[in-house]
Amino acid sequence: MSAFDERLCVTCSAPTNIATIKYWGKASAELNTPINSSVSVTLHQDDLKAITTVAASRSFSKDRLWLNGKEEDVESNKRLTTVIKLVRALAGDKVDAKTGEVLVYKADWPQYHVHIASRNTFPTAAGLASSAAGYACLTFALAQLFAACETYDGELTAIARQGSGSACRSLYGGFVRWQKGERADAADSIAVQVADEAHWPELRALIFVASAAKKGTSSTSGMGTSVATSELLRHRAAALVEPRLAAIEAAYLARDFAGFGRATMVDSNQFHATCLDTYPPIFYMNDVSRALVQAVHAFNAHHGAIRAAYTFDAGPNAVVYTTASDVAQLLAVMSRAFPVPRGAPACSDAALAAEAAAEDVPEALLAAVLGAVREPRAGDVQMVYATRVGDGPRVLGAADRMLDPATGLNT
Ligand code: DP6
Repeated sequence: MSAFDERLCVTCSAPTNIATIKYWGKASAELNTPINSSVSVTLHQDDLKAITTVAASRSFSKDRLWLNGKEEDVESNKRLTTVIKLVRALAGDKVDAKTGEVLVYKADWPQYHVHIASRNTFPTAAGLASSAAGYACLTFALAQLFAACETYDGELTAIARQGSGSACRSLYGGFVRWQKGERADAADSIAVQVADEAHWPELRALIFVASAAKKGTSSTSGMGTSVATSELLRHRAAALVEPRLAAIEAAYLARDFAGFGRATMVDSNQFHATCLDTYPPIFYMNDVSRALVQAVHAFNAHHGAIRAAYTFDAGPNAVVYTTASDVAQLLAVMSRAFPVPRGAPACSDAALAAEAAAEDVPEALLAAVLGAVREPRAGDVQMVYATRVGDGPRVLGAADRMLDPATGLNT
């Protein structure tokens, strides 16, 4: 006896994304719409991703969820129940791809409950947008399970948005805009792909994990306080973001790193300035973050051009964008300025770490970067992830399944 029909079970993965023009502030908390449009790079799933298995069965007595192996209450989680309800509303006839047999008729879906098991391959809530990958993955996996049909383009991104705003951008690869939308029902507050993952394959990202601890102020509550108190945020959303979005999209399409990098750094700095302008102020960056900023500026000053660009989300970790031709040298200097703890791998990508170790770094560059940061202290940076631009959600095979067909429970 099995708990669910394996043909009514899907496992998917979804990427995270790191905004270069930030979403900060909600126009409607109810619909989870933003006060400004935003844009992000989708990161490759080889490195960081969410994996989610969903299964449906008439024998399940209620919807259940396991997150990173721990069961969470579904009923009390409004965002989760909203996403499940909205994807379920788009359900169609579920047909077995091999035989053409109808496994579940559209009208019968209300008799089914779902079990969901999800995990991240990176530290949850360390400011690495784990909720983005998680809700994108859930929305995408449920859409596969229910054979959901969108009633308009981008409807699934509008659903993912209601799980977590930034999640809507993780439903596409490459460079993605979340347009804030104008309609009262927010149906046009959706993600749109600006360029796919093949457009700029040389783009790289190094993620410097300054702390893998759960962050202090959640994005949702931080944004609430910022919207209520920061005049700078109001001005930013009303006057500054739109021209910056147009500029960064043009730079990305032209593969102009200097233009892309400058807009990225300026916008990250402005986002954190709005946090400081919030009353009481919110601090996401710490001394290590600020040292990382100075190191990147020293690197660029040495080269006389913007060749690396940092951005920080709601946490102290730096994501530093660069290109394939500079990534080994950048990692080499940064590893000297921010040595990881003894015994830890220098970088998630062993081949790149070896390339960086073999780099012949000019003395002047090293002196400039080391001079810009205070005394290097092992452990200020815990870990460095190396990654690149990647594709959108994928359907995986049974080998990645996280629900046991015999029991219906998380494996
Ligand atoms: C700083 O998408 O996590 O990463 O919609 O409340 O779930 P909620 O917020 P969330 O906020 C992300 C904020 C950010 C900037 C960004 O990703 O654009």
